[in-house]
Amino acid sequence: MESVVPGRGHRDQPFTIHEDAPSTADTEMLESASPEDDDNVEQMDDMADDMEGADDEDQESDYSASSDDEVVEDPYVLQDMEKLQNSFPGFREKYRLIKRIGEGTFSTVYKAEDLLYDDYDNSWDLDRDNDRYAPPPLRSGDGAEAQPSRRRKPKYVAVKKIYVTSSPSRIFNELDLLHDLRGCKAVCPLITAFRSADQVIAILPYFRHADFRDYFRDMTVTDMAIYLRSLFTALASVHSHNIIHRDIKPTNFLYNPATRRGVLVDFGLAEREGYDCKPCVCHEPMARRMKRAAVKKLAAMPRKGGYPRDDTRPSRRANRAGTRGFRAPEVLFKCTEQTTKIDIWSAGVILLTILSKRFPFFNSADDVEAMIEIATIFGWHRMQQTAALHGCMFETTIPTIGKSGFSFEAIILWSTNRSGKELPEDEQLAVEFLKRCMELDPSKRISAEEALRHEFLQLGLEQEAEGKGETGDDELDILKV
Ligand SMILES: Nc1ncnc2c1ncn2[C@@H]1O[C@H](COP(=O)(O)OP(=O)(O)O)[C@@H](O)[C@H]1O
Ligand SMILES: [Mg+2]
Repeated sequence: MESVVPGRGHRDQPFTIHEDAPSTADTEMLESASPEDDDNVEQMDDMADDMEGADDEDQESDYSASSDDEVVEDPYVLQDMEKLQNSFPGFREKYRLIKRIGEGTFSTVYKAEDLLYDDYDNSWDLDRDNDRYAPPPLRSGDGAEAQPSRRRKPKYVAVKKIYVTSSPSRIFNELDLLHDLRGCKAVCPLITAFRSADQVIAILPYFRHADFRDYFRDMTVTDMAIYLRSLFTALASVHSHNIIHRDIKPTNFLYNPATRRGVLVDFGLAEREGYDCKPCVCHEPMARRMKRAAVKKLAAMPRKGGYPRDDTRPSRRANRAGTRGFRAPEVLFKCTEQTTKIDIWSAGVILLTILSKRFPFFNSADDVEAMIEIATIFGWHRMQQTAALHGCMFETTIPTIGKSGFSFEAIILWSTNRSGKELPEDEQLAVEFLKRCMELDPSKRISAEEALRHEFLQLGLEQEAEGKGETGDDELDILKV
């Protein structure tokens, strides 16, 4: 077995993907952060502690073998696991694959035990000293004291196998951004990554979470506030690095309702704000924007209704990456200067889903249908103003789209079979917050930083503060997230 050098990378080294060294195995480790001298060590510690804390139930229920060691029976999954282990020389010495835990559009994620945890610098892991040795040494048969066991609680990781069909630049982008985000609160850190030929795997701390569909209907308003505070904490950190996540949705925010903690994952579509951007009229002063919109309207105006037969206007190109139903209006209108505010809209859609108890809330087949869904809520008048904001036009003859649409209150009451009643005060506060997240104009939409100061996101804080006195050290750290 290869000797293992402590530390899985150094903070000051820029993030680079190494080329295969000709003399060694075809597996390369990608540099990742060692937070030793990081200003944010404490935050990283909180996160690491959370990761492990999330697994405590497993570890305590069965010290040497996790209760997650269930036998994988699906022959296809077994075959995939075998293939993964074979394609990375030395994989079996480093990790023990346990099971498949997720399958997304761009990857398959497995749970694994980190077998060489002790050989590396895990300074980010607060639990590392507590977990190292088993309690008192036992007497062996001949009366001599047996050596203390070096066994400790198993440490779990998530092995994200990125599909080989993903472009190298996309894979690099995801790992590079994760590297930049090391130490960010409520963002799942990257431990390390490996490459073998065209296959890349990212290693992340395993975070125990529940399926959103299993808990969102039962959330109280305080539960919603705690969930969103965790999500907005992650967004505030990501946005402060000028990074747009682009794919905020429940499956990318791993949340454990039992511990009320969450982490943001999946930076596969993330990008830096301003990257590959062209100016959009939405960033121009109002007066100039109105003038431009009027000129454009005249130019595009067909003589007798309808649309020009030969439309010579160039088609717009803009990043539309994201998930149907969670795309902000400016993404649908192909704004060429999108900002971090697109994530806030998506977070708003999650809140709307929880408040209305409908998942998915928006269920469009394409972007045009998505616009129709949004227009149904906001009315065609505001939708036209939104289109104009990005130099576009919005016209519809669909009779169900009214001029003023519906209020969120009415939609929530209707979808939860309470039509004719009034929303209780705490839910009204949640709706106030929702309106700030789902502002059609991104410049008026609340930022993540501002959101964290909103009255709605203060709900449950006292509860947490009270809880602090009663809980153990682990919980204290957990609550910082
Ligand atoms: N660190 C982690 N801990 C536990 N489960 C994870 C972790 N990372 C990802 N997963 C699971 O795998 C799924 C897919 O991961 P994700 O990073 O979103 O990949 P994709 O780009 O394929 O969507 C997630 O929805 C989640 O269920
Ligand atoms: Mg995902």
